[in-house]
Amino acid sequence: MANRLQGKVAIVTGGSVGIGQATSVLFAEEGARVVVANPNASAGEECAAGIRAQGGEAIFVQTDISQEDHARRVCDEAVQAFGQLNILVNNGAVFILKGLEASVADWQRMLSVNIMGTALMSRFASDYMKQFGGGSIVNLGSISSFVAQPSFITYSSTKGAILQMTRNMAMDLAPFNIRVNCVCPGTIFTRASEEHMARVGMTKEEFIAAESPKHLLNRVGDPREVAYPILFLASDEASFITGTHLMVDGGYTAQ
Ligand SMILES: NC(=O)c1ccc[n+]([C@@H]2O[C@H](COP(=O)([O-])OP(=O)(O)OC[C@H]3O[C@@H](n4cnc5c(N)ncnc54)[C@H](O)[C@@H]3O)[C@@H](O)[C@H]2O)c1
Repeated sequence: MANRLQGKVAIVTGGSVGIGQATSVLFAEEGARVVVANPNASAGEECAAGIRAQGGEAIFVQTDISQEDHARRVCDEAVQAFGQLNILVNNGAVFILKGLEASVADWQRMLSVNIMGTALMSRFASDYMKQFGGGSIVNLGSISSFVAQPSFITYSSTKGAILQMTRNMAMDLAPFNIRVNCVCPGTIFTRASEEHMARVGMTKEEFIAAESPKHLLNRVGDPREVAYPILFLASDEASFITGTHLMVDGGYTAQ
């Protein structure tokens, strides 16, 4: 299938690697004009250039979603470049995986990027969506929105909050025809997994062997397997779906 997002303009935060990159690429394949919003300029430019090289439309805007002026600017630049704004994917996140030993600085970083960043982006994007007659926001939750994992309090708190923010935002934005939903992945192999492996001293084989059996499908997921559910919720195919979450977890939470 193609052109499921024909005519739409989408911002994908953290859009240059991992699940965000897969989403940016898939959205462009489906006809969207994509704004890759990322703090890292080289990865962001590379992602947008890759999309253009495949015949898609994309720009990169250097963005730290925890900064109010950045969040406002990326929405302004999306509209300046492409004339409208219809979709926001709140994918950008940091991963500080700690228990109660987490420092105030750890907590501030987690809360300011994962929660405040989601709130700021949603605020400025929805201001434009209201002007354009509606839109769709897809947040990235996680299995960590639902289940506890060892030494995950900092990260899980933010993913739990994002799940509840999804419901509240769906309520407040419904009068403006803006739908808000949440995709909750299980373990997906990305750069974040590689950083986690390096931190805990695991090889890729050890990581996959440890994570796979936690999922009914007995494997970890691929970023594109999350990008498709995000595409569905972002598209008009999900026109009567708002305020809910979609588990993309290979059966992790079914047990
Ligand atoms: N990989 C998994 O197993 C998994 C599981 C469940 C949920 N998720 C969620 O999926 C999303 C993407 O995860 P991933 O595995 O692709 O991670 P990743 O580390 O590969 O990508 C995260 C992206 O967020 C960006 N980012 C970090 N700080 C930012 C900031 N201040 N402003 C804007 N962007 C920022 C990074 O630059 C990067 O592009 C996250 O929200 C994560 O919580 C991932």
